[in-house]
Amino acid sequence: MEEIGIYVHIPFCVRKCDYCDFISYAGKEEKMLAYVDSLQKEIEERAKSIRNKKKVIDTIYIGGGTPSFLPLGRIQAILETIKKEYSVKEGAEITIEVNPGTVSKEKLQEYRKCGCNRISIGLQATRQKTLERIGRIHTFEQFLETYQMAKEVGFSNQNVDIMIGLPEQTCKEVEESIHKILELEPKHISIYSLIVEEGTPLEKKLAQGEYKLPDEEGERNMYWKVKQMLEQSGYIHYEISNFAKPRLGI
Ligand SMILES: C[S@@+](CC[C@H](N)C(=O)[O-])C[C@H]1O[C@@H](n2cnc3c(N)ncnc32)[C@H](O)[C@@H]1O
Ligand code: SF4
Repeated sequence: MEEIGIYVHIPFCVRKCDYCDFISYAGKEEKMLAYVDSLQKEIEERAKSIRNKKKVIDTIYIGGGTPSFLPLGRIQAILETIKKEYSVKEGAEITIEVNPGTVSKEKLQEYRKCGCNRISIGLQATRQKTLERIGRIHTFEQFLETYQMAKEVGFSNQNVDIMIGLPEQTCKEVEESIHKILELEPKHISIYSLIVEEGTPLEKKLAQGEYKLPDEEGERNMYWKVKQMLEQSGYIHYEISNFAKPRLGI
């Protein structure tokens, strides 16, 4: 039986971060329910094309955008449609991406109840000034609250997204962020070097001299520092931006 994964994209955000050119829209909340309806129809249509092809789903990733911005009940509806239409392997990894500032305990309980067993939380930076410079809607404290609530409802497999090379960021700041994250012991950490995307507000602000980026050497120092800190703490650098704790028994 061939094992395949499903990625579900939720293209809504509370507001657009200044650096982001992923497909996601702010201020389009009125389209959320219609989008989920269409998604469910698409899931059903696509399932028809692989019926009888002996495929089993071993991973489902609900990403964005901001999946946790959808109203209560919608993630459950999407997952129920997938489970009705496809053969989902027992123990399949089901990840939900959430953003601090859009999550409630009820939503997290819903995600657990409908089978999500991995959570990915976008933090990006721990210092408030840096979060503001890149247009994030949340504080570090809100991230901690989200992380803690996720643990309380039973998420024991977590990823945290971090960015380096951000405006005015220093190696010391990155080191401080990594220390704070290591204290939480997530199973997985993704580290992304900032890409200044064309046409983003961040590109404009940099061109206007509002902020300065660390130079190339500074950014590389951050990368090596992060790698060293994570490896010393037992994380495996298995892919360019990704670090994971080894699984017991493997
Ligand atoms: C598409 S985003 C979705 C995650 C979630 N919406 C959030 O913002 O936390 C996935 C990750 O890509 C990274 N990312 C987005 N834009 C980037 C950029 N211009 N350069 C580097 N990393 C970026 C961020 O770390 C982000 O968490
Ligand atoms: S919340 Fe995530 S997807 Fe939305 S704009 Fe920010 S980085 Fe992009």
